[in-house]
Amino acid sequence: ARGYNITLLPGDGIGPEVVAVAKDALSVAGSKEGFELRFQEMLMGGAALDAVGVPLPDETLAAARKSDAILLGAIGGYKWDNNEKHLKPETGLLSIRAGLGVFANLRPATVLPQLVDASTLKKEVAEGVDIMVVRELTGGIYFGKPRGFGTNDKGEEIGFNTELYAVSEIDRIARVAFEVARKRGGKLCSVDKANVLEASMLWRKRVSAIASEYPDVELSHMYVDNAAMQLVRNPKQFDTIVTNNIFGDILSDEASMITGSIGMLPSASVGESGPGLFEPIHGSAPDIAGQDKANPLATILSAAMLLKYGLGLESAAKRIELGTYILLARHWLDASEWERKS
Ligand code: NAD
Ligand code: IPM
Ligand code: MN
Repeated sequence: ARGYNITLLPGDGIGPEVVAVAKDALSVAGSKEGFELRFQEMLMGGAALDAVGVPLPDETLAAARKSDAILLGAIGGYKWDNNEKHLKPETGLLSIRAGLGVFANLRPATVLPQLVDASTLKKEVAEGVDIMVVRELTGGIYFGKPRGFGTNDKGEEIGFNTELYAVSEIDRIARVAFEVARKRGGKLCSVDKANVLEASMLWRKRVSAIASEYPDVELSHMYVDNAAMQLVRNPKQFDTIVTNNIFGDILSDEASMITGSIGMLPSASVGESGPGLFEPIHGSAPDIAGQDKANPLATILSAAMLLKYGLGLESAAKRIELGTYILLARHWLDASEWERKS
């Protein structure tokens, strides 16, 4: 039988809880479809800090690189919040994304008919929403230099970061987004802050230039503040969104709530070559960790994205999607979200 090597990075907080469920889903899909998945669990984030003193051990990155795909739970927690930057779980996450070169992060937000009431938006606003956020993942203010702490002319302490994009970085994420939009509704909205930021001015110029390669895709541009508003005013106007690292981080959390829970949004991070990294968009949720309340759907659906985008196993991915959408969503929303909120 065909076999694939999967690196599991459970991480911290609810990470191990949701990865365990997704691993089972993968195994079942594998046995039904006649392929074997070999799992290797590695340390990452706070768990790695506690065990070996760094948030991304070399062995973890090496194992990840050698595998066919990587499934990550979540990292972070109160315990490590005041660590120096190089000893933060979050630094490990950014390092593995950069180390794998996974510059394109696909974050779909889909409102399922069965779960339309889970949205905090009115039914007529939420129903039918199907958005794909394409987030640039290895550039921008997360990685731009100079960055750091220092003092200004007045001797006052400062912290600073740099929002920076090179043409090649914009062009490649734009092409991914146009390809994605072409296979979806054929509409791409590029979100930026080109009225203020130079990095966004270049972003808009390059996305517009790349558009000529995709005459079948309808391109529009929107400022990020307006986009944040439009997402809750009328989310159905969006098909595919492409945006930079930090705006994509924020807008995807916002888009998740249209679907009813951040616990339902998966993601796929892919590069030009090498294995993809698949993870829920949510964090380690330390407030509910260890209480069996975490919604595992985001991670299960990330496993489906792993099969589809990472291994090209579309029918196995469909199996997970269909099987879990209807059954688990209702169950877990009842068990965790609703109970918690009432
Ligand atoms: P969070 O996403 O962990 O939690 C935000 C809220 O959503 C919390 O109330 C939490 O209980 C809830 N929530 C999240 N996932 C859920 C799920 N699957 N089911 C039910 N409820 C869920 O964000 P935060 O609280 O801002 O961050 C907590 C920690 O996670 C921080 O250390 C942060 O850096 C880290 N973080 C990691 C990742 C990642 O690993 N990719 C992503 C975001 C945040
Ligand atoms: C996410 C997270 C991460 C990010 C943090 C934990 C570094 O919020 O995956 O969305 O900002 O990318
Ligand atoms: Mn985030």
